[in-house]
Amino acid sequence: MREVVYRVYRAHVSLAYIAAQGQRTATLLDCHPLGPKPQPRQDGILWALGRRWSVDGRFREEASMNTLQGVADTLFIPLEARIFASKKFPEYFYDAKALSLEEHIPDNGIREKSSEYSLMASVARYYNMDAMTTAFIAKHAKCNIVYLGAGLETAYYRLNKNDAFFYEIDVPDVIAARRSALGENPHEVLIGSDLLDMTWTEALDTSLPTLLIASGVFQYLTEEKVGDFIADARTLFEDAELIFDTTNETGIRYANNYVQKTGNTQALMQFFINDSAEFAKRMSVALIEERPFFTDARKILKRKLGLYTRIAMKVVDDKKRAILVHLKLG
Ligand SMILES: C[S@@+](CC[C@H](N)C(=O)[O-])C[C@H]1O[C@@H](n2cnc3c(N)ncnc32)[C@H](O)[C@@H]1O
Repeated sequence: MREVVYRVYRAHVSLAYIAAQGQRTATLLDCHPLGPKPQPRQDGILWALGRRWSVDGRFREEASMNTLQGVADTLFIPLEARIFASKKFPEYFYDAKALSLEEHIPDNGIREKSSEYSLMASVARYYNMDAMTTAFIAKHAKCNIVYLGAGLETAYYRLNKNDAFFYEIDVPDVIAARRSALGENPHEVLIGSDLLDMTWTEALDTSLPTLLIASGVFQYLTEEKVGDFIADARTLFEDAELIFDTTNETGIRYANNYVQKTGNTQALMQFFINDSAEFAKRMSVALIEERPFFTDARKILKRKLGLYTRIAMKVVDDKKRAILVHLKLG
């Protein structure tokens, strides 16, 4: 069994973000490489460091950073999905950069453990967010596009950027691995920071129209944290919009089952929205759009998709089990 090690980052409320394909158990460590012996914790946002710890918790070895080893394995789920769709359904979604990363992905068996539906659910998120981002860029000559919890997101390479500035925010270790795997490009800034610690906003011009994108990220936070983030962003940006994917209460149960099936036994998604209009009202922001995941996928791919996938897509769309929410923050 592959050894994967985790560190708790600060003491955030939400449980984990762990990883570990083929890993049945994981110890949550609250620690710092130079700090005292790590203590097991019940909560916290974690990510894999790609480092090993000896029994006394001392730092022993750092994974090579010129491969994608050492990045939290849950990051690979959406990347694997983008590779899958680019090969099987390029008429719906194509991501050349994701394909180029394939050889660097550790053998984690994610694709084998994932149903066609689960992979397409990840991809539909990108498909729709790309369309929304493209529309935003087309509308604003000069603007900021901010990926919150960017991970190994390759939208920068997929989209027509015009004069947009791209910002990729993630926790420092993920950004270090991203920098090594993908580098930093013109009009792109990588920022290693907790997205909830709004000091990262100092790196960009907050007077420009800004689109904040949280793809596969808010689920791991509590509603209170998401609310705090929205309130802070409203104060800090002059003209900002936010898009994120979410599920309703039923959808989050299915999503948790899937992530756990890929080997992630302790990650727990907690944030969901049953009624986006009510949520927007409670956050004192305007709801621009609530978009189902699969409208276009069902039209474009039709019977190329398996029967189970088609049924699941219809049920999820009809019952709003997974949606994209687009808010105007100020
Ligand atoms: C499931 S991955 C999604 C990655 C990427 N958005 C995508 O769709 O490919 C979630 C990402 O959110 C990041 N993340 C979670 N909590 C965070 C926080 N508080 N601050 C910054 N990044 C965070 C994780 O490190 C991870 O890279």
